[in-house]
Amino acid sequence: MKKVITGGTIVTATDTYKGDVLIEDGVIQQIAACIKDVDAEIIDATGKLLFPGGIDPHTHLDMPFNNTVTDDDWESGTIAAAFGGTTTIIDFCISAGSPTLMDAIDTWHAKSKDKAVIDYGFHLMIGDLNEQRLKELPEALERGGISSIKVFLAYAKEFQATDRTLFQAFKVGSKLGATIMVHCENGSVIDELVEEAKANGQTEPIYHALTRPPEVEGEATKRAIELANLAGAQLYVVHVTCKEAVDEIISARNKGYNVLGETCPPYLVLDQTALEKPDFEGAKYVWSPPLRPVEHQEVLWNALKSKQLQTIGSDQCSFSFNGKKTLGKDDFSKIPNGGPFIEDRFSVLYSEGVVKGRITENEFVDMISTQSAKIFGLFPKKGTIAVGSDADIVLFDPTVRRTISAETHHMNVDYNAFEGLEVTGEPVSVLVRGEYVIQDKKFAGKLGSGQYIRREVKGSAKVTS
Ligand code: URP
Ligand code: ZN
Ligand code: ZN
Repeated sequence: MKKVITGGTIVTATDTYKGDVLIEDGVIQQIAACIKDVDAEIIDATGKLLFPGGIDPHTHLDMPFNNTVTDDDWESGTIAAAFGGTTTIIDFCISAGSPTLMDAIDTWHAKSKDKAVIDYGFHLMIGDLNEQRLKELPEALERGGISSIKVFLAYAKEFQATDRTLFQAFKVGSKLGATIMVHCENGSVIDELVEEAKANGQTEPIYHALTRPPEVEGEATKRAIELANLAGAQLYVVHVTCKEAVDEIISARNKGYNVLGETCPPYLVLDQTALEKPDFEGAKYVWSPPLRPVEHQEVLWNALKSKQLQTIGSDQCSFSFNGKKTLGKDDFSKIPNGGPFIEDRFSVLYSEGVVKGRITENEFVDMISTQSAKIFGLFPKKGTIAVGSDADIVLFDPTVRRTISAETHHMNVDYNAFEGLEVTGEPVSVLVRGEYVIQDKKFAGKLGSGQYIRREVKGSAKVTS
């Protein structure tokens, strides 16, 4: 059935205006000052902002990691994402341990297919690139509909790539037009610092941050930048946290290098002191790269505002406190790395960014949706409100004040890293391809209704700003 959203204010990355939106067959068919259609279901959006659905370019759902598995799978994770205003995610398909890359992609389809309630794509994670993997890669990307590859320079025991593998990945990216995403921390130096701390009896969560200082992020960022440039590849630096890394990115972009960057909400609003909370509570804030001293927050906001960083990922990688984070009770290096952010990414950026006057509502849309769509080959199907685009629309009440809490969130974890944070604004209803997934703050979706979005390898990875 057709739907008309009437009376709302449409906000895109470039414009804000009042308009009605006609939706049919999952697509936006018309936008006009006033649409009268007697056959359509009318959705009254008076007083609401209409945002394009959020696109989260960085999630880890149902992922084996750090000797355990994340607590949010494709059911709880995508439902929580939808409550938070996100209508598309791009999740990391882990290939380590899979006989072939296609097996890894099939495994990720099996995890997501009957559960996802919003649309999704995959990035392909590469740990090592032997002859066999290098041979498989072009076909896996093509057949898998994947246009981005992730390489880790940390997590020596699980995923860390050598510089040679990193460079090979850049060469493949350059040849095929795939974006290479890199986790930039020097894992070998971190391992040395971790061993040193443990030998000194330093076992508390705060040592997670102190053994991964900004210098190791800055160094790895510079290395990735130089090698990407040498190979002629497009580099996307994931979860940038600190001045050291931002400086490298700005300096490279000033030289015309093809470098893009992402940061994540916790780095914008939380700081390193969270890891010092008593009674092992600091473990709730253990993820990598770690939270930084508070002065880094302003550097990140400025980098977003000036478009040196383009996107906001959640880096959703959730582990409950009881039973999962407590695995590291006596040794910080055994605390599973990651946090629950998929639900609050959108609202935290709106409230801390737009409401506090750091960014405009159009810049908000750009960071939370449009840039990820452009960089990862989803635009203009996703990432905007325009005729011909998928009707992925968030009806957002910009006036509601509420407090983020694990008691009211929908993620499958026993804590919320933003517990107690007061935010202004809330997604009220969320449509994916014209169908309600959230209606008046209640789940109205269907498990398995999310569609896998194939992304083209060639030409999909273009710098957008
Ligand atoms: O601590 C984190 N960020 N866990 C997820 C894996 C990663 O590094 O992105
Ligand atoms: Zn990472
Ligand atoms: Zn991540």
